Amino acid sequence: MKEQLEQLKVQALAALQDANSPAALDELRVRYLGKKGEVTAVLKQMGKLSAEERPIMGQLANSVRAEIEEKLEERKSQIDAIVLEQKLAAEALDVTIPGEAVQMGHEHPMNQVLQEIKDIFVGLGYQIVDGPEVELADYNFTRLNIEEGHPSRDRSDTFYFANDDSVLLRTQTSPMQIRVMENTKPPICILAPGRVYRKDEADATHSPMFHQIEGLVVDENITMGDLKGALVTLMKRIYGQDAQMRFRPHHFPFTEPSCEMDMQCHKCHGTGEVNGQVCSTCHGEGWIELLGAGMVHPDVLRNCGIDPEKYSGFAFGMGLERMAMGRLKITDLRLIFDNDVRFLNQF
Ligand code: DAH
Repeated sequence: MKEQLEQLKVQALAALQDANSPAALDELRVRYLGKKGEVTAVLKQMGKLSAEERPIMGQLANSVRAEIEEKLEERKSQIDAIVLEQKLAAEALDVTIPGEAVQMGHEHPMNQVLQEIKDIFVGLGYQIVDGPEVELADYNFTRLNIEEGHPSRDRSDTFYFANDDSVLLRTQTSPMQIRVMENTKPPICILAPGRVYRKDEADATHSPMFHQIEGLVVDENITMGDLKGALVTLMKRIYGQDAQMRFRPHHFPFTEPSCEMDMQCHKCHGTGEVNGQVCSTCHGEGWIELLGAGMVHPDVLRNCGIDPEKYSGFAFGMGLERMAMGRLKITDLRLIFDNDVRFLNQF
């Protein structure tokens, strides 16, 4: 029995020394020290021994057991250290390797110009307001004096919702005039930028979705001189002191009198041609239409509960893309919507 125990010990210690994974160690622990293990099996034979031999063997068996346990612990911490070492090596991170550069974006050129325009008007005392792109025909047309049957209400120009002619994608930011006036008493001084939609084919100066900036000022004694002052200030701040612009008489149902304002074409400088060809940016006009404007029609004031005998106002609605084209010398509107980084990176 003594030899048996000695042999077991030698075997177990050698096997433990060779084990090199936590799983292998566990297997050996069960095999030698488990309830059905080999050391236990030897101890079960103790009954056969004489009373003198029994304590000696018992002691020997316990010390064999203790030695195996000790060796187990020792190997366990060695193996844990190796496993940790391997894991660290596998997950090593070289913090000295140069990182991959992340390309930083920046504000879209059109938004840069929008911000400039907003800043100018905020400086003049205007408040920036926002409103829905899905609009009621009542606000987009009717209350702006654009009656049923007016050509601009045509289904071929306007995106209506399904067969319902009362809801549409706004074709202009002018409905914001109504939304503000029906909720605010004069003095009113607001700027309302936003998206508008029309069934237009895209070309160098048209897109089915574009942006307008509506302005509205209502107070006592507001005149066309105030309108002109605001717009000339804007133009000079955006395009420089020698900016060339012109006002033309025009007609809008919601203003009286009405006008349009053009800026000189930045591509052909007003000549209408480039290298003997008709200028593609202004179609040979020499001028680019920027906005419509006028004195708010008395009926529109009345539609919103404002007394036209006491108050007067001016309004304007400008095309943001057109403003940006002139400001940044862009010759084709479609570049603004293409999102080509080679274009965007230039601003
Ligand atoms: N909403 C007009 C358009 O889209 C532009 C316009 C004209 C706006 C005259 C105005 C205005 O505020 O007074 O063509």
